[in-house]
Amino acid sequence: MNKLEVKPGIYWVGGIDWDIRNFHGYMTQRGTTYNAYLIVDEKIVLVDTVKHYLSEEMLSRIGEIIDPGKIDYILSNHVEMDHSGAIHKILEASPDAKIITSTQGEKGLKRHYKRDWKFHVVDSGDTLKIGKRTLHFVHTPMVHWPDNMVTYIPEDRILFSNDAFGQHIASLERFDDELGREMIMEEAAKYYANIVLPYGNRVQKALADLSGLEIDMIAPSHGIIWRSMIPDILKEYGKWSCNETEKRALIIYDSMWGSTERIAFAFMEGLREQGIRINLRNLKTNHISDILTDLLTSRLILIGCPTLNNGMLPSMGAFLTYLKGLKPSGRIGAAFGSYGWGGQAVGEIEKVMRDLKWELPVEKINIKYVPDDEELVMVRKIGNKLGKIALT
Ligand code: FEO
Repeated sequence: MNKLEVKPGIYWVGGIDWDIRNFHGYMTQRGTTYNAYLIVDEKIVLVDTVKHYLSEEMLSRIGEIIDPGKIDYILSNHVEMDHSGAIHKILEASPDAKIITSTQGEKGLKRHYKRDWKFHVVDSGDTLKIGKRTLHFVHTPMVHWPDNMVTYIPEDRILFSNDAFGQHIASLERFDDELGREMIMEEAAKYYANIVLPYGNRVQKALADLSGLEIDMIAPSHGIIWRSMIPDILKEYGKWSCNETEKRALIIYDSMWGSTERIAFAFMEGLREQGIRINLRNLKTNHISDILTDLLTSRLILIGCPTLNNGMLPSMGAFLTYLKGLKPSGRIGAAFGSYGWGGQAVGEIEKVMRDLKWELPVEKINIKYVPDDEELVMVRKIGNKLGKIALT
């Protein structure tokens, strides 16, 4: 392994998880990294760790730089086990090292690991001198858990942002300008949509707290480090956290015998007549975490499902459960589907949209058995109307 110095005296010592494809329900087609950073100053500080099964990889990277027994502090910006899973391995090598964390972080680590570790608890705004550098701590609760904080070093203009600004990308490249911009931004959007989306208000507060800082490197705990696209990613986070959407339509559906699919396609034709950009996502062939990436920037969301056993297809049930948890707001919605008897699915979809406080400008569409030509013309006209609304 080659030493990877991201700033003079600051090294990337994380682990690369090339094969992970499911991160608590989020499909990670490109794998991920767990980024840990080693700061070599008068005090030696390890910023976060890695998932337990990459402990040896991290220790080996640290070992190329210093003896792991010399680590003075483990800075735990976040308790979740993808970042805390190797703390005990570091403490085996350096038993006197203290864990710097928030009050919630201390509670969380004790609940997870049941160990009597030495803690140095910090509040938001606290600082710690470690030699020529000063660590500044800013709490960012719920981005992503209650314990989250970020750490800024003014002498290096680097922000260790933990989950914020992350992307699930496994690569040997470590910086944003070493990989394709489009892919990085897509993965950053997917990460936001699937991890950070419910906490937009907290993101806005965090962005406000960080706005006065001079930053030329954002070092998250997943994926590449931002150094060339910092204004771009900050701008996107500003938009995403306000639920600011684009004039785009997204049709999400599943179908049993093709009727709901025909309605979905009739909607697409009607929308297309308005010239609005459209994505059509069948739940049978698209993963819900990819659909959320589309939903992040789409203003108009049409969701369709047939009724099955007085309810809905399990695929739609799973999608709506996921959607409710991620709480996207500020959308225009419409529910549709088909049924033989009962017909409950469409009402249940519409209820989720109402609970999310989406605007619902048209009546739900629920067609018995198989839509005829007249009904498809009617759906197309409603699609046209919805397209016009979404474009205004
Ligand atoms: Fe990457 Fe919330 O852990």
